[in-house]
Amino acid sequence: MAIPTETVYGLAADAGQSEAVQRIFDAKGRPQDNPLIVHISSMDALPAVVSSFPIAAQRLAEAFWPGPLTLVLPKAEGLAPQVSAGLATVGVRMPSHPVARAVIEAAGLPLAAPSANRSGSPSPTTAAHVLADLEGRIPVVLDGGPCRVGLESTVVSMVGTPTVLRPGFVTQAALEQALQQPVLLDKAVTAPLDAGAPAASPGVKYRHYAPKAQVTLVEAGEDAFADFVRQHAAAGVMALCFEEELKNMAVPSVSYGTRNSEEEQAVMLFGALRALDEHGATIVYAHAPHREGIGLAVLNRLLRAAAFRVIVL
Ligand code: TXA
Ligand code: MG
Repeated sequence: MAIPTETVYGLAADAGQSEAVQRIFDAKGRPQDNPLIVHISSMDALPAVVSSFPIAAQRLAEAFWPGPLTLVLPKAEGLAPQVSAGLATVGVRMPSHPVARAVIEAAGLPLAAPSANRSGSPSPTTAAHVLADLEGRIPVVLDGGPCRVGLESTVVSMVGTPTVLRPGFVTQAALEQALQQPVLLDKAVTAPLDAGAPAASPGVKYRHYAPKAQVTLVEAGEDAFADFVRQHAAAGVMALCFEEELKNMAVPSVSYGTRNSEEEQAVMLFGALRALDEHGATIVYAHAPHREGIGLAVLNRLLRAAAFRVIVL
């Protein structure tokens, strides 16, 4: 079933049952080589998911669980093979959303759950988004209202030097503060993979979060962005901009929050990408966010939506 979490809605199944996990891949149309995150509601469940939990992982769990952080660790035996998609590791997370926790507890099992969208489309932050993508393909969605964070969890590899594979609400700086040691940022967070290079996190290989329109990210000041949009106005062209800029856009536009609130941009981004599709956009110019704090996660999702097409003015 689809369940709300504090980040995005997830599509959950018993992580130990191969048939159940396979149905997640089938419902989403997910590439079979993209592993799933396993969700737990108590530390007692860890041995069923990971084969070791080093001291650094314990520190991060103490600081950020329950919450929007996924730790990648050596996997335990007994998980359905599809969960890890052939890797020796597994991503594990303890969500804070009361409905997610209640479902895990009622099931009495670790639950594998990727975001509850069709593969490639923006992650769902409301039950309506889940239905728009998966109605008729899954039996149930539990409606817990809109998600508080709005972007998927921070994914950190704890194998070797801690490395952020996917940025999120828990920032690199917050991780370093909790660990009192440097945390690396995987190059794939802000750059496309080199052709043929192996992915630390298989999910980064795929074009993600993408509306049907062709998105281009524009790094520019407010006036320069407005001028650029005016010069490129045409049928089907839309802008994805900040709330304050809506009045200055020469084309139909959708806002993804106020200029200086990266938290709000995180909450609104995926809904805004879906709205662009609903308006029938064919070309979208998106005003790039600040990179500070969760802004890096917002930028990371926008870069993928844009397939790394960026214009710097
Ligand atoms: O906030 C979230 O993390 C949401 C909610 C539902 O918990 N889940 C989510 O799952 O975003 P998904 O499947 O959409 O994204 C999981 C990401 C993918 O990029 C995947 O490649 C990566 O985590 N991942 C999972 N297991 C991994 C592993 N063992 N090693 C490296 N990356 C892994
Ligand atoms: Mg996803």
